[in-house]
Amino acid sequence: MADEASAAVAAHTRHVADFPEPGVVFADLTPVFADGAALAAVIDALAESGRDPAGAVAVDLVAGLDARGFLLGSGVALRLGVGVLAVRKAGKLPPPVLREEYTLEYGCAALEIPAEGIDLRGRRVLVVDDVLATGGTVTGAVALLRRAGAQVQRVSVVLELEALGGRSRLAEMPGGPVEVSA
Ligand code: PRP
Ligand code: MG
Repeated sequence: MADEASAAVAAHTRHVADFPEPGVVFADLTPVFADGAALAAVIDALAESGRDPAGAVAVDLVAGLDARGFLLGSGVALRLGVGVLAVRKAGKLPPPVLREEYTLEYGCAALEIPAEGIDLRGRRVLVVDDVLATGGTVTGAVALLRRAGAQVQRVSVVLELEALGGRSRLAEMPGGPVEVSA
C-alpha cells in the first residue's frame, strides 16, 4: 500500500487486546474509515490494484465483500469508473443465487451473488475487503465469482495478517493463483 495510506492505517487503527478471544490482538479499522483523509488515502491505494503498470484501468467491476468490504468497494469502483458488486453473506439476496461455502477459523459460512441480472462471464473483477486473515472469506468469494464466469486475478485489502496464511491459500487456488495487494 502507498506510504500515505500505510501511515493513515498505522495512525488510526485501534488495537484491542484479547478480542475476540484471549491472546488475540484485534485490529479495528473503524477509526481509519471514519477519518476523511485516511479513507481517501486507503481508497486511492486499493484502487491502484485495478490499474495496469501504465495506469490504465484494468478491471471491469469491483466486488466488495459483506460487510466491511462494502465500505471500500464502492469508493474503489468510483475511483476506477467501474461498477460495484456486493458479495453478500447467506440469506440476504432473493433467489436465484449462486452460493459458496467457506471456512472460518471456527465453523463455516456462505457467500452469495445473484444468479440472474448480472452477467459476469469474462469480466475482470477486483475483489476488495478490509482484512485478509486466514483467507477463508476471500477464497470463498473468488471461487464464487469464478464459478459465475468472472476473471479474478487480484485481491486488494487494507490489512494483511501475514501469520494466518491467507496469501498462500490464494496463490494455490484451483483455477489459478490470485495476487494480493495489501
Ligand atoms: C472479517 C473481515 C474479513 C474476514 C477476514 O469479516 O472483514 O472479511 O473477517 O478473515 P478471513 O481471512 O479469516 O476470512 P467478518 O466475517 O468478521 O464480518 P464483517 O465484514 O461482516 O464484519
Ligand atoms: Mg468481512
